Amino acid sequence: MAIKLLTRQLLSLLLLPCMLSLSFAARGTPDFRIKAVNLGGWLVTEGWIKPSLFDGIPNNDLLDGTQLQFKSIKFGKYLSAESGGGTIIVANRTSASGWETFKLWRINETTFQFRVFNEQFVGLDDGGNGINVVAVSNISGTSETFQIVRNSDHLNRVRIRAPNGFFLQAKTEESVTADWEGDEGWRDDDPSVFEMNSVGELRGEFQITNGYGPDKAPEVMRKHWSTYILEEDFKFVSENGLNAVRIPVGWWIASDPNPPKPYVGGSLQALDNAFLWAQNYSVKIIIDLHAAPGSQNGNEHSSSRDGSQDWGKTDENIQETVAVIDFLTARYAKNSSLYAVELINEPVAPGVTLENLQKYYKAGYEAVRKHSSNAYVVLSNRLGSSDSKELFSLANGLRDSVIDVHYYNLFSDTFSNMTVQQNIDFIYTNRSAQLNNITTSNGPLTFVGEWVAEWEVQDASKEDYQRFAKAQLEVYGQSSFGWAYWTLKNVNNHWSMEWMIQNGYINL
Ligand SMILES: *[C@@H]1O[C@H](CO)[C@@H](O)[C@H](O)[C@H]1NC(C)=O
Ligand SMILES: *[C@@H]1O[C@H](CO)[C@@H](O)[C@H](O)[C@H]1NC(C)=O
Ligand SMILES: *[C@@H]1O[C@H](CO)[C@@H](O)[C@H](O)[C@H]1NC(C)=O
Ligand SMILES: *[C@@H]1O[C@H](CO)[C@@H](O)[C@H](O)[C@H]1NC(C)=O
Ligand SMILES: *[C@@H]1O[C@H](CO)[C@@H](O)[C@H](O)[C@H]1NC(C)=O
Ligand SMILES: *[C@@H]1O[C@H](CO)[C@@H](O)[C@H](O)[C@H]1NC(C)=O
Ligand SMILES: *[C@@H]1O[C@H](CO)[C@@H](O)[C@H](O)[C@H]1NC(C)=O
Ligand SMILES: *[C@@H]1O[C@H](CO)[C@@H](O)[C@H](O)[C@H]1NC(C)=O
Repeated sequence: MAIKLLTRQLLSLLLLPCMLSLSFAARGTPDFRIKAVNLGGWLVTEGWIKPSLFDGIPNNDLLDGTQLQFKSIKFGKYLSAESGGGTIIVANRTSASGWETFKLWRINETTFQFRVFNEQFVGLDDGGNGINVVAVSNISGTSETFQIVRNSDHLNRVRIRAPNGFFLQAKTEESVTADWEGDEGWRDDDPSVFEMNSVGELRGEFQITNGYGPDKAPEVMRKHWSTYILEEDFKFVSENGLNAVRIPVGWWIASDPNPPKPYVGGSLQALDNAFLWAQNYSVKIIIDLHAAPGSQNGNEHSSSRDGSQDWGKTDENIQETVAVIDFLTARYAKNSSLYAVELINEPVAPGVTLENLQKYYKAGYEAVRKHSSNAYVVLSNRLGSSDSKELFSLANGLRDSVIDVHYYNLFSDTFSNMTVQQNIDFIYTNRSAQLNNITTSNGPLTFVGEWVAEWEVQDASKEDYQRFAKAQLEVYGQSSFGWAYWTLKNVNNHWSMEWMIQNGYINL
């Protein structure tokens, strides 16, 4: 009994300082706040940031993830995966939405697979030997591979050649078969002619590398990586009041120089260069895993192939992602420029569950700590979750952890009709309250890892933009870790911090 008591006292004596130092460390405020800019569109492609990158791809309106609808010219009705998938394809819909939309998987510029609403692939019945067109297979192979033949005068008039060599035809409104030999007349009563409409597309890393294909993609990507961000950009950053960059990377960087297809090797060399230049100009680096295997949000910026969001659904997938963090931290841990590692960018609820995300964050945190005792570890909040503190119970136990929130006055009806002043008031009142709410003295640090001086306001003046930027700088400057503008370069001027600084819209 006495011994037991003594042990307990001893234990609590031993544990006390440890707990103190833990909670103290968790509260530790950095010596300075990050004033950073994202290097978006560099090592993870986003078509809207630099559209010209896609110019050289043949049939570049038919990339992976493009959402197509096909109207039978003869019947004036849309093809549809009955029940959304799992059974036949029909041609009896007068209007088109989810079940009438087919997502492309591109094999090459003329050859494709079609994924339907419930995620099956279009093929032929009887295991590919029949002639009825169905959507039953969960996987795609040669029996799910079709050719799109375009009318050279009207590119949206198409025929679809099935793997058996015949064209698809809307035989009746309720029967679509692959047995049309047909002429090439493109006549309106030809049941094999369809009008093709695109209702959505993705332009990310998967699309560009698979679009150019294995012969051309390496050259295009390496040229982009070696010309888009240069040493002089780090000079610019350091001379304009910024002290850090957040660098989005994709999971395939960890298997450089031979990443899985269609990805291309060489982005690791580019990241190495960033560390070299950062060192030279005393710029800190936040490595940000922007694209995780399987895609954590279904967007092009996480390199989703077709809009699916599959990240985190298996332990294997989580372990694979931890290995990427392990690799990157091991490589740069000794480099004084490495300031923080962000484990994943913008996971989206409910597709990414809190439970899976926490499992990953725990393991990812340990992977960083295995190599680095002082790099901050950034945990991105889930978009689509209403609880901005849902990671606190986990983060409270992780020394030097940071919660990343992204504040855009965009992407929501809330902002559609706001005036200039309403936008600015929203920053001072609402954003300020949100940020205050999560910036606590005993919780994780807070980071506004993405924001931009852009809004829904049309024809705003330069002075309006200046006031909007200034409001955000003031409010986000109250975060305990700092902020990062999205992004350094962009063909859309307000999204380019370089342009905003050079043209006097932002002054730090
Ligand atoms: C596209 O892929 C198909 C199927 O593998 C092949 O038959 C065809 O020759 C390829 N076309 C081009 C232009 O590479
Ligand atoms: C496809 O996947 C679904 C859902 O996992 C399953 O119910 C179905 O049996 C699968 N179909 C085939 C043909 O394997
Ligand atoms: C289309 O055809 C299928 C198959 O016969 C049928 O089940 C469905 O009700 C039809 N839908 C419409 C809108 O006519
Ligand atoms: C890290 O920084 C040093 C300079 O201190 C540089 O020589 C080295 O190449 C960098 N390492 C990497 C992997 O970039
Ligand atoms: C480092 O900075 C100096 C001064 O700007 C420059 O001359 C030199 O080329 C830079 N070296 C590297 C490796 O970036
Ligand atoms: C914005 O204003 C337009 C025009 O008055 C209106 O049609 C629309 O519903 C408004 N949007 C929202 C989200 O309030
Ligand atoms: C911003 O906060 C104010 C004050 O709490 C509130 O009245 C207003 O509804 C909020 N605005 C929006 C768009 O949420
Ligand atoms: C502050 O956080 C609590 C949850 O911890 C939430 O209920 C409340 O709405 C938040 N307030 C603001 C202004 O975000």
